[in-house]
Amino acid sequence: MNGGMTTAPLFSHSPPAVLQTVEKLRHFVKVARARGGRIALVPTMGALHDGHMELVRRGQKKAQAVIVSVFVNPAQFGPGEDYDAYPRAWDSDIEKLTAAGAQAVFAPSVSEMYPDGFTASVSIGGVAEPLEGERRPGHFNGVALVVTKMLLQTMPDVALFGEKDWQQLQVIRGVAADLNIPVEIEGVPTVRDENGLALSSRNAYLSPAQYHVAIRLNKILFSMAEKLRAGGSLQAALYGGHVEIAKAGFDSMDYLEIRDARTLRQASTKTEGLRILAAVRLGKARLIDNVGV
Ligand code: PAJ
Repeated sequence: MNGGMTTAPLFSHSPPAVLQTVEKLRHFVKVARARGGRIALVPTMGALHDGHMELVRRGQKKAQAVIVSVFVNPAQFGPGEDYDAYPRAWDSDIEKLTAAGAQAVFAPSVSEMYPDGFTASVSIGGVAEPLEGERRPGHFNGVALVVTKMLLQTMPDVALFGEKDWQQLQVIRGVAADLNIPVEIEGVPTVRDENGLALSSRNAYLSPAQYHVAIRLNKILFSMAEKLRAGGSLQAALYGGHVEIAKAGFDSMDYLEIRDARTLRQASTKTEGLRILAAVRLGKARLIDNVGV
């Protein structure tokens, strides 16, 4: 429970307040705090789906005011990645946030976040180095930068992130701990569709035929986890997973690994506290998924 506090919304904004500047965001937070409310922040890049909305619902259980940021962050896209093509869906995002009862949307422009002359950076090692870190150089520094800025701009009590991006969640936990940012980081389990496909804004890139290949990924990861739980070795589970991925019809595989869930270091003999993580390519989409063991 929230220390006995009520979770009744403090604001009945319907639709949510749209805050386009840091100044307006800070004013909103100040008013909410003056009313004694806890603040939850849900950072997103928009094109909202039920995975994002689950973060909003969890936020509502933990705070009286939920602020959702919608900002496609150029700093986390590499050259040749899909920054320009990234889906943008402002009207339907606002509809969903209105229906969910979010109190505010923070939607800054790129120049509000990165004005002329902006040069600061946040650099993170450790958990950010393997897997996505190797394939997308600079990506996690860009994520760490924008999330650090948003945490300092908002100063929420709690910020919520999805386990869908497991490595990102560990990176953000690391940044908040290393920089002593006083916020609770809450991880939310992955929301999947009826075929187990992890919901993602980038699933919009999949054709119907590609969708039928895409749904194999989660089934392969879950069956690897089953084998490990039944006492199978890491090597056998990995080998089986690689064979299945090769047969499934993906265009290519970036990685399929079993790692320590917290540090993301190589797991050698451990059989618990593990995470199976994969990234594959299919047409224009790059799919990532992970499951716990
Ligand atoms: P985005 O991909 O929009 O995701 C926003 C949040 O929603 C992230 O915490 C992500 O893990 C979570 N999420 C996405 N799909 C989910 C699913 N199927 N189930 C549960 N949670 C899901 O991740 C980002 O944006 C950005 O990197 C961001 C953190 C906003 C920084 O720019």
